[in-house]
Amino acid sequence: MADDVEVISAVDFDDGTIGAWQPSGTQSFDYVPDDDGGLALAVVDRSADYVGIQSPAGLFDGYAAGDVLTFSMQVRLAPGTPASQARFVMKPEYTWIGNTAVTADAWTTVTGTYTVPDGATGRQAYLGTGNGTATYTYYVDDLTVTAPVSGTPGENASTLDPLSDTVDFPLGVAIDQRETVGAAADVLTRHFDQITAENHMKPDAWYAADHTFTPSAQATTLMNFAAANDLRVYGHVLVWHSQTPDWFFQRDDGTPLTSSEADKEILRERMRTHIFSIAEYLSGTWGSFGSDTNPLVAWDVVNEVVDDGSATADGLRRSPWYQVLGAEYIDLAFTYADEAFNDVYADPSTDRPVSLFINDYNTESGGKQDRYFALVSSLIERGIPVDGVGHQMHLNLGVPISQLDATLDRFAALPVVQAVTELDVPTGTPVTQPGLIEQGYYYRDAFRVFREHSADLYSVTVWGLTDGRSWRDDSGAPLLFDDALQAKYAFWGAADGELPATPESADSFQADVALDADVAGDLAWRQLPTIAVGDTARFQTRWTADHLTVYVDVDDASVDAGDAVALSVGDAELVVPRSGGDGSVPAVVTPRDGGYTVVLQAPLTGAVAGDVVDLDVRVTDGGDVVGWNREGTLGALTLVGPLGYLEVAETAQEPVIDAVVDPQWAQADVVPTDLQIEGTGGASAQVRTLWREDTLYVLMDVTDPVIDSTGSNPWTRDSVEIYVDAGNSKAGAYTALDSQIRIGADGAVTFGTGDAAAQAARLTSAVATTGTGYVVEAAISLAGTGGAGTFHGLDFQVNDASGGERTGIRNWANPTGLGYQFTSQWGVGQLVETPPVVVPDPSLTLSTDRVRIAGSVRVDLADFTPGQRVTVRTTWAPAPWLTLVTARTTVVVGAEGTASTTVRGLPLLLLGPYEISAVVDGAKVASAPLVVSLR
Ligand code: XIL
Repeated sequence: MADDVEVISAVDFDDGTIGAWQPSGTQSFDYVPDDDGGLALAVVDRSADYVGIQSPAGLFDGYAAGDVLTFSMQVRLAPGTPASQARFVMKPEYTWIGNTAVTADAWTTVTGTYTVPDGATGRQAYLGTGNGTATYTYYVDDLTVTAPVSGTPGENASTLDPLSDTVDFPLGVAIDQRETVGAAADVLTRHFDQITAENHMKPDAWYAADHTFTPSAQATTLMNFAAANDLRVYGHVLVWHSQTPDWFFQRDDGTPLTSSEADKEILRERMRTHIFSIAEYLSGTWGSFGSDTNPLVAWDVVNEVVDDGSATADGLRRSPWYQVLGAEYIDLAFTYADEAFNDVYADPSTDRPVSLFINDYNTESGGKQDRYFALVSSLIERGIPVDGVGHQMHLNLGVPISQLDATLDRFAALPVVQAVTELDVPTGTPVTQPGLIEQGYYYRDAFRVFREHSADLYSVTVWGLTDGRSWRDDSGAPLLFDDALQAKYAFWGAADGELPATPESADSFQADVALDADVAGDLAWRQLPTIAVGDTARFQTRWTADHLTVYVDVDDASVDAGDAVALSVGDAELVVPRSGGDGSVPAVVTPRDGGYTVVLQAPLTGAVAGDVVDLDVRVTDGGDVVGWNREGTLGALTLVGPLGYLEVAETAQEPVIDAVVDPQWAQADVVPTDLQIEGTGGASAQVRTLWREDTLYVLMDVTDPVIDSTGSNPWTRDSVEIYVDAGNSKAGAYTALDSQIRIGADGAVTFGTGDAAAQAARLTSAVATTGTGYVVEAAISLAGTGGAGTFHGLDFQVNDASGGERTGIRNWANPTGLGYQFTSQWGVGQLVETPPVVVPDPSLTLSTDRVRIAGSVRVDLADFTPGQRVTVRTTWAPAPWLTLVTARTTVVVGAEGTASTTVRGLPLLLLGPYEISAVVDGAKVASAPLVVSLR
């Protein structure tokens, strides 16, 4: 196969221009000498990620979903510039392609692939650079964008290397006369060495309406085509219940045959005559079987004789043949066929030249396979001349490849050959580009199994040449070639050629997780959602400069010697057996109920944020292997900075959302907005978080002495942003539970990506100016995902504005400045349960026990729960229910468990004994007496 690539765009800047590319951002260009006597582009004083150049509009519009484009360029920084990163960024999703560390010391190749997604055209790629808004100059050279030609559909199949050359068994295709002429015939004869008549050698194809034996012209055409083109003919089918004339099962007067001995004899004779007529005709026209001139080599003697259910003891279909003859019709069919094709009409110099097959569908699945196996075994035991077992293999993408392997393995134990007789694998509908690629991998893996079983395989036949001609086209493009006779991914897969890589990708946060005995329970593995490895395992990673730590959790209740977790990290392979192994790989294996957990470390060298590590994680359960990626493909693990993490304290009493700092905020930890994303210095915030039940509370105390709310965009006005990924799915793109909440210093609330009304329904907020800036208080519903121990994606941002422009952005957790597009690098908060405060004896003390008319008393509460709301009630002791002489005031208990208030203007109405009490949730928890006297 050719390894050609199609160049979509190439710019070498040698002519002192940016070619067809366009400027991006506010830029200034210069050209500097490159290393090979030409020029390179200098992007002078870039001051944002996107400053530089971008691809011409529409450049990628001709590419379909699933096409894989390769981007490449050389990048170097101007002398003295601190290290940074360079990448391609594809709009509108802002997908990073090939993000790579770059320096002033040398040219670095920045390269990566981009799989065209489903959906809109109009994509545009720009050159992205790191270090936020820092001003520096970078050089670019030798920019190319290519698409592979090899392994992609679109090539005319009549010029490709023959598929039959890639296998050691004959390769067949089911056709009718339409495929014997023109371009279809060219493709057929190039790639196949055997044909089956899709319909025209079935029982009903041999008879005229008056029941006379009249071979169809199509059968003749196919035999002639095969003889002329040195193709074998696999006959299909002598005895079947379908596509068989009704009169086969009737007496001459049209009444149905019964199982009487006389009727049985009629049907035996009819079967024999049918088989002998065909043999006589085919040998009469093309020479005896086994002679050089006769291309026929095999027959499906009986088809679909096994029952689909397990209702019958003998497992046989109750077909009209069976109803008259019982199980003996199968024996008879083989006996007659052997006599006709391998004896009476055979070339005497050959030995049984025509192989006799039994054929059926769903033979790769459970019960049907058992019944089929039992039947074939019994035929063989009884000496019935059966040479081969046919597996139709009308498959779909959901049938595990391992089942095909197991099927061929099982029948290999019998003294028969096997054939795959009617292979097709629809994608399902609608037919999509990813589905066609998936189909390519399915054909690849199926043919790999067939190649492994070459020694047992008589032939493999695909049930049709082009999709539009398939009986299953309604289920989605089942074959190797499209209707324009172009090779599909399915073809390249069957040929074991290249298919578009569809690697998985993930981020790895920076952290050193110590490999101690309880590492399986480390908080790190709960902070983020795990990544699935098949249905039975999941993993997570952390990295440092010199190693990658990988946590793999496996469901596997039965301990087998072969159980193991394996990693591919670049070229290195690391295997940790469930037993723990010999210690050559640093690892801790921890058994758990129903499975086990492995935490292992792989060496890295000088890893830095922005590096991409090629990784696959595979889990072996006995003989079955599941991987994160397809076999032979490595995923892309992008190393990113440390994960922002905080614990959110529980509050006993929800804060009132009024931008007044209630005492319970004193319990909350504080995080800063120290990541400068844009600008220098400027506004920043101290951020506190609390939770209660399903609500998250956020208090942002912003230092911003000069408030500017004049900008035309909400984000170019002084404001804060609160990012919440309720439930911590870290899905990347926004989901319904991801929210970007923007609250202006002026109180205006706006939202980013997603349904604004739904986000607004989850939010209550208040803003107040302070001496040093403003304070924002917010209550955000966690939409049912909250509660003690839960994790949520979180970030906090401060936008600083002046003169209507944004001059600064500072964040708590996400260093990329792309939090408004992607949730993946937001930080994480865990809602922790506040340890129950032991309040042995809440107390209430009065500054005096006796006051005169118009006097006041100070009330001190101590040993209460911080944040609790306490009602201080003053009642007249003789009639505490008398509301006229009752006063109440509410205080909130501070962090120390104390609160104070003063009761003034006593008596309220009557002189005499009073009681002052502290009431929490309607219950009096402490009290003290007070006497109000005249003098
Ligand atoms: C199908 C043909 O592909 C169709 O064109 C026809 O209409 C019906 O039969 N199992 C078999 C084949 O053994 O003969 C069937 O072929 C598909 C199922």
